[in-house]
Amino acid sequence: MQFQNKKKVATITAVGMYVPEKILDNKYLESIVDTSDEWIMTRTGIRERRIMENGATSDMAVKACEDLFKTTSVKPEEIDVIIVATVTPDMLFPATACLVQEKIGATKAWGFDLSAACSAFLFALQTGASLIESGTYKKVLVIGSDKMSSIVDYTDRNTCILFGDLASAVLLEPTENQNIGIKDSMLFSDGSGKDALQMKAGGSLNPASHETIDKKWHYIYQDGKAVFKVAVKGMADVSYEIMKRNNLTSDDVAYLVPHQANLRIIDATAERMGISKEKVMINIDRYGNTTAATIPSCLTEYYRDGKIKKGDNLILAAFGAGYTWGAIYLTWGLD
Ligand code: COA
Repeated sequence: MQFQNKKKVATITAVGMYVPEKILDNKYLESIVDTSDEWIMTRTGIRERRIMENGATSDMAVKACEDLFKTTSVKPEEIDVIIVATVTPDMLFPATACLVQEKIGATKAWGFDLSAACSAFLFALQTGASLIESGTYKKVLVIGSDKMSSIVDYTDRNTCILFGDLASAVLLEPTENQNIGIKDSMLFSDGSGKDALQMKAGGSLNPASHETIDKKWHYIYQDGKAVFKVAVKGMADVSYEIMKRNNLTSDDVAYLVPHQANLRIIDATAERMGISKEKVMINIDRYGNTTAATIPSCLTEYYRDGKIKKGDNLILAAFGAGYTWGAIYLTWGLD
C-alpha cells in the first residue's frame, strides 16, 4: 500500500459575530469632547461604534460563538481548542479562553488568550491553522473579542473617537481540498514601537496604584501620528509582499480584508495592491476600531451578505500595537 501523506490544510467552516446594542455616534462624542462629526469622518471614516453595557469580553465572545454554532452541525463539546484574541481580557488571569470554554460548554477543549492588539486575529488564525496542520487537532475556535470601551478615556479626544466593542468568531477545520483554506502568512513584531501605543499600567511593570490611576495609565495611550506613518507602510508593504510571493495579481484577489483602524490606512493599502475600492471589506463606519474583532466581523458580514463565494482569494491584513503586523492569504471554502 502506498503511504499517503497529504498535507492537512485548515479552512474556515463557520463564522459568527455579536454586535452590542448601544450605539455611540459622532454627535454624542461632540457633546463630551472637543471634536466634530466632520473631523472624525474625514480623518478616520468612523460614523458610530457599539458599546457593551452589561458584560465583559468573554460574554461578547460567547454570544459570537452561539451565533456561529447556529450555522454548523459542530457542537461545542466537539471543539478541541479555543483561542481568544484580545487586549481586553476579563481579567489578567484566568484566561478569557477558559471563561468562554466553560460558558459555551466546550467540555473537551483547552485554550488560551493571544495578545497582539490589532494584529491578534491574524496571529490567532495562523496559530489555529498550524494546530490543525499538525494533524493533532480538528476543530479550533478562533475568536476576536474586545471591549475597548473598558480601556478608553472618554475625556481624550485623540483616542475616544476611534474604538468600539465587538466580537466575532470563526471555526477552523481540516480539509483535503488543496484549492481552499489558509495558504500563506507573513507575520511580524517589533517591540521598538511599544511607546507609541500602549496601556502602561495593570501589568507587572506598573501594578495598579493610586499613582497609576491618577496618571490615567489604565487607559489606551496612542501617539496617533507616529502610529499612522508606520501603519500605512507596514500594512501596505506586507499586503503587497504576500501577493507577490504567491504570484497573485490584483485580478486574482477577490477582497482585501483589512484591519479597520482608519479608512485612510485602508485606502493606502488597497492602492499599493492595485485593488479597487469595491474589493475592500469595510465596516469601520459602523463599528470603529474593534481591535481583534475587525477582520472576523468583516468576513462574517460579507459572507452573510452573499458577497464572498467559495474559491475567492482573500488577503487579510493588519497593523497594531507592539508593533505587530502581517497578512494572511486564504481561499474561501464555504458555499
Ligand atoms: N477632533 C478634532 N480634532 C482632533 C481630534 C478630534 N477627535 N483628535 C486630534 N485632533 C486635532 C489634533 O489635536 C491636531 O491639532 P493641531 O494640529 O492643532 O495639533 C489635529 O487634529 C491633527 O491631529 P493628528 O493627530 O495629526 O490627526 P491625524 O490626521 O493623524 O488623525 C488619528 C489622528 C488618530 C485618526 C490617526 O493618526 C490614526 O488613525 N492613527 C493610527 C491609528 C492606528 O492605525 N492604530 C493602530 C491600530 S490600533
